[in-house]
Amino acid sequence: MLAKELRQKYLEFFETKKHSIISSASIIPENDPTVLFTTAGMHPLIPYLMGEKHPKGTRLVDAQKCIRTTDIEEVGDTTHHTFFEMMGNWSLGDYFKKESLEWSWEFLTSHDWLALDPKRFAVSVFKGDEVASFDQEAYDIWKEIFVKEGIPEDRIAKLDKDANWWGPAGETGPCGPDSEIFYWVGDIDKIPQSFNDDNDLWVEVWNNVFMEFNKNEEGVFEKLASQNVDTGFGLERVTAVMQGLDDNYKTELWTNVISKIEELSGKKYGESEDVTKAMRVIADHIKASVLIIGDDRGLTPSNTDQGYIVRRLLRRAIRYGKQLEISQELWLKEVAKEVVDVYKDIYLELERNLDFVLEQLDKEEIQFSKTLEKGLRELNRLISNIPLEKTKLLDISGKDFFNLFQTYGFPFEMIIEEIKNRGFLVDEDGMFSSFYKEKKKEFEEKMKEHQELSRTASVGKFKSGLADDSEETTHLHTAAHLLLAALQKVLSQNVIQKGSNITADRLRFDFSWDEKLTDEQKTEVEKIVNEVIKQNISVECNEMPIEEAKNQGASGIFTDKYGDIVKVYKIGDFSQELCSGPHVKNTGELGKLKIIKEESSSAGVRRIKAILEK
Ligand code: ALA
Repeated sequence: MLAKELRQKYLEFFETKKHSIISSASIIPENDPTVLFTTAGMHPLIPYLMGEKHPKGTRLVDAQKCIRTTDIEEVGDTTHHTFFEMMGNWSLGDYFKKESLEWSWEFLTSHDWLALDPKRFAVSVFKGDEVASFDQEAYDIWKEIFVKEGIPEDRIAKLDKDANWWGPAGETGPCGPDSEIFYWVGDIDKIPQSFNDDNDLWVEVWNNVFMEFNKNEEGVFEKLASQNVDTGFGLERVTAVMQGLDDNYKTELWTNVISKIEELSGKKYGESEDVTKAMRVIADHIKASVLIIGDDRGLTPSNTDQGYIVRRLLRRAIRYGKQLEISQELWLKEVAKEVVDVYKDIYLELERNLDFVLEQLDKEEIQFSKTLEKGLRELNRLISNIPLEKTKLLDISGKDFFNLFQTYGFPFEMIIEEIKNRGFLVDEDGMFSSFYKEKKKEFEEKMKEHQELSRTASVGKFKSGLADDSEETTHLHTAAHLLLAALQKVLSQNVIQKGSNITADRLRFDFSWDEKLTDEQKTEVEKIVNEVIKQNISVECNEMPIEEAKNQGASGIFTDKYGDIVKVYKIGDFSQELCSGPHVKNTGELGKLKIIKEESSSAGVRRIKAILEK
């Protein structure tokens, strides 16, 4: 079964269970500055899990584009990916544990659907702690199924919070105990009686989360008004399972991409562990970058936020490309075209934005080559005074290695490699092993410190974001709608929003425009917005089919499918925009808009930072 058939079957199955299909949301969360990327299918649905009414009802199903960057360093094995597609079904206060688990089982094992062998399954349920008790209900549901199928009851594992609790996605939000489903990919004769966390032959195929809690800002878990279900089913993994493959990269979601890397490097996937790992990293990182840059937001590699992640991914791919001795210049785009081929029929924006994506990859590749050259010069300077006497190597400290990494993007292994190339001996098992290990440790400590610092910085920065629904943020969110409408009046009706990031303190707004705004234009925009604010116009929210929203001329990114019901926020005759809120009730609440900065964001995109004065 091909991935595209599996994706389709999943959606169809849940349609037969009265779910409405919704489109994938953007990979970059819209108006949610608490996180950089959409990390799970539930992410764009948080407001609805918290109780807001969803226009398409209480049962939803989708395939969501996701990015997880927490384990970039783990990419290279058979199952970890930075970009992945999460199939998911939701109950928004509708069905709960029984239907959810029984339907998962039916989809996986029924002959009408995936027809996987029931005997190869194990599951886990939440063991209980001070917040929530042992999940007896889920246990009993599984027990009934397992008894009927003749599966040993020991295959129902009771695990603690680390394994069987999901969420919240950020610091606060919906979460709850979960039940995971595992499939034995090893030899059927060797299948164990009970489930064991450490055995890689048990592959997690599905997670059913019973979201009935909200973790609040004090860290307290309070019961939500409704009992929700959030499930996640990894398309890449299950595709591999369905094809009887022990490596996700051997499925058609990857094979053409890997073939291109083989062609560029003249090496074969599988010829050695190092080559295999390098090819997986390259394939994974370029795929994730293409999906991020190819999203309609026009995101580009940079030194901040999402742009920084893309930069890291691309640079890492380039370094692994060097390891594979890829010599062709501007090769990233060759791999990227293969990625687009895999997804262009599902995520139509990729073809639409193809030229933009390829251009960005070229730019980054050129810039990084220059950076690497500079780094090499710096490394030469550090070691040039050291005679080829091994003991003198001790003069290069972990701090210097680290600076080399941080400033020039040199990874530790590459530094060691370069040192070795100059004739120094760096041999882990040999006489310098203690030196080597000590340096490595020192370096890793510095790295960790660095990572922690950046994490703290971003948590701090985003703490009071829209997801908190703070009053200030909501005010700025409505102001963003007014700003777009004013820009369209002053500059051109064709101006579109390219992204936004709103905290309680300020609004950052990216839009399509080529030139620096004149002082007159900025003043005019402020004036128009402030006049609308003064008129005390009420902000209306209407639900309507997407094509009606389009016909009425609403602004927004129209990613939803034909027939989908969307929310449109309307501010008098002045602004009409597709959006999921929240917004103020009346423009009079806003205060006075002031543009504090106007600058270039990337090619063809300008950025405004603005605040509201009381
Ligand atoms: N939100 C759950 C997960 O990501 C389903 O695993």
